[in-house]
Amino acid sequence: MKKVDMYQATPSLVDKSILVTGASSGIGKATAKLLAGNGARLIVAARSFDKLQSLAQEIDAFPVACDVTSLDSVKKMVEAAIQHNGRIDALFASAGIYLSGDVADGLPGDWSQLIDVNVKGVMNSVHAVLPAMLAQGSGDILVCSSISGHQAIHWEPVYSASKHAVQSFVHGLRRQLLAKGIRVSGPCFREPHCGGAGVGFRP
Ligand SMILES: NC(=O)c1ccc[n+]([C@@H]2O[C@H](COP(=O)([O-])OP(=O)(O)OC[C@H]3O[C@@H](n4cnc5c(N)ncnc54)[C@H](OP(=O)(O)O)[C@@H]3O)[C@@H](O)[C@H]2O)c1
Repeated sequence: MKKVDMYQATPSLVDKSILVTGASSGIGKATAKLLAGNGARLIVAARSFDKLQSLAQEIDAFPVACDVTSLDSVKKMVEAAIQHNGRIDALFASAGIYLSGDVADGLPGDWSQLIDVNVKGVMNSVHAVLPAMLAQGSGDILVCSSISGHQAIHWEPVYSASKHAVQSFVHGLRRQLLAKGIRVSGPCFREPHCGGAGVGFRP
């Protein structure tokens, strides 16, 4: 049987055009640096344009200000990305916010904001990149998930609900795009490995 060299089998990232949302800090920023270090051409997006600019300088990326809760803003981000890099080979949707605490003491306005960013923000981003990926017949969509998307965690039920929604979205989307050359996944992370600006241990 032919031996497969897994290192060689890994597709090269050189010249891949990759859009990272939530790239101004934490996991998005760390991932953008890692991808750029492996030769990818990065488009880095978030609301804090000053932070994006300094990252863009550091890793030779293209910064785009975007609020993922606004479909209009997200569409403009994708247009700018395609105009700059010619295509989008991959989306890493990392933009997200965190909330813990008892539901009894919670503020519904905070829950709405969390759902808008963590769930609708992901849907907006995917919706906006899909036309280009479908036209090119290829693409990778990676949505930043969490262990909290796989098991309900009692100290963060609202956050956990948002990540469960993301997991369901990822599974359904993967099935929809299976025959179209577009791969979909929802990787999970833990803060100690990413240097995120979070609040201590978060699954
Ligand atoms: N840290 C962890 O332990 C952990 C574990 C599992 C999963 N996650 C997930 O990983 C992702 C990133 O978390 P993190 O720890 O890296 O958090 P973080 O350091 O706080 O970064 C969050 C990023 O999202 C961006 N963002 C927030 N609201 C946005 C909006 N409305 N529009 C556009 N961008 C927005 C922020 O940028 P601006 O404020 O500049 O917009 C920032 O770049 C999230 O989806 C989170 O749920 C984190």
